[in-house]
Amino acid sequence: MSFRSVQGMFDILPVQTKGEYPAAIREWQRLERAFRSSAELYGYTEIRTPLIEHTKLFVRSIGDTTDVVEKEMYSFERHRDQLCLRPEGTASAARAYVQHSVQAQEPVSRWYYLGPMFRAERAQRGRYRQFYQAGCEIFGDPGPACDAELIEMLVSLFEGLGISDVTVHLNSLGSAGTRERYRDALLAYLTPHKDSLSEDSQRRLEKNPLRVLDSKAPEDQALVADAPKLLDVLSDDDREHFETLQRYLDAYGVRYELDPTLVRGLDYYTRTLFELKSNSGDLGAQNTLCGGGRYDNMIKSLGGADVPAIGFAMGLERILLALGEQATEKTDSVFIAPLGKDAVSEALVLGRELRQAGIPTEVDGRGNSMKSMLRRANHLGSRLVLILGDNEIERGVVQLKDFQSSDGPDSGSGGKAQSDVPRSDIVAQVSLLLSNGGSMSSAGAAT
Ligand code: HAM
Repeated sequence: MSFRSVQGMFDILPVQTKGEYPAAIREWQRLERAFRSSAELYGYTEIRTPLIEHTKLFVRSIGDTTDVVEKEMYSFERHRDQLCLRPEGTASAARAYVQHSVQAQEPVSRWYYLGPMFRAERAQRGRYRQFYQAGCEIFGDPGPACDAELIEMLVSLFEGLGISDVTVHLNSLGSAGTRERYRDALLAYLTPHKDSLSEDSQRRLEKNPLRVLDSKAPEDQALVADAPKLLDVLSDDDREHFETLQRYLDAYGVRYELDPTLVRGLDYYTRTLFELKSNSGDLGAQNTLCGGGRYDNMIKSLGGADVPAIGFAMGLERILLALGEQATEKTDSVFIAPLGKDAVSEALVLGRELRQAGIPTEVDGRGNSMKSMLRRANHLGSRLVLILGDNEIERGVVQLKDFQSSDGPDSGSGGKAQSDVPRSDIVAQVSLLLSNGGSMSSAGAAT
């Protein structure tokens, strides 16, 4: 009997696993660091909420006619509570905001989060049943300046990561009154064509006609092409909000496309709505890197004050797929390769000295050949390799190879510098190399 992970749920390991799921752990950590530092640069602070919530939180906020709530929740009953694994982070953040009366403590809150979400979707490349989102939420700011800032932050983040073909899709749903008016107009237009709609859309027509707009079924899309446009029925305030947002994006030089059919699959949105898409790397059909928008009514509908809100979430798997295979970066770590029995004890002691200086170090005590040790150092991505053989011990030196340096004595052969460093200086020299990202010549290694 063999055990496998649940379908649509994947392991992330130090090594690359086979299949559709992207990247080894180092790529994930690099992306998570980039997201965190970007969020913190823009004034967001991390929050952590439970993975399990009451099911009715999502029914109330996301809406009971959405795919997520209708078909995709991992729900179960425990101690007579109806619970589920969270399918997204916004409702949890809003619940926590209301539960802890945060608006009484500060007028504006900027939060970010990062973690696994669960949706029982049809699994395919870029769409998983456990997936990771990184998201930001702003509570207490009606925008549109912060709406523009949020979108600009995403564009800068993706640019910084090296995803260069990102497009911003933008729409406005208007506030609740506008939505109601539009809903009526759409219903009046679609009802005479009801029989031509897809089965899903027919079922949703009464409860949630806006969902017909983003249906992928060709028969629905044909009808939607001539449907009344949301942008045409925006109230003056909504229009002003949307146009000012566009002015701010123009001022940033952020390019965007107005997309009147963008409604997104969650019912809580009001006014600003956006998605960022890319076709880079190994992304397939699931090319929406992130989506978000305003949800000015959610805090109130969860029992809180009348607090406006906006946010986004990005799928980390999709971003890693968009990044594709990247050259693995060397880590600031040291690999000690001892040759010969005496050398192992020397290597263990040197390893301890380096770790005491705060330098991550691996000592290869397997007694293997130099070739096999270097292969392992390469696999680990260690930047520096220290070789200790009988010859080095006799001469009181350690041979140091820097796999990042492009200068040094044998840089012509394989882009690594190599030199003998006195044993008494080695910890200081390694520290210097790793702390200033310097080259071996600038660290003054003895050659
Ligand atoms: P969402 O569009 O459902 O929005 O998800 C946001 C992003 O999460 C998607 O654009 C996609 O990158 C990723 N994603 C969603 N489902 C999957 C899946 N099954 N597998 C892999 N990636 C997936 C939200 O979740 C909202 N909470 C966003 C938000 C925050 N709106 C306001 N604040």
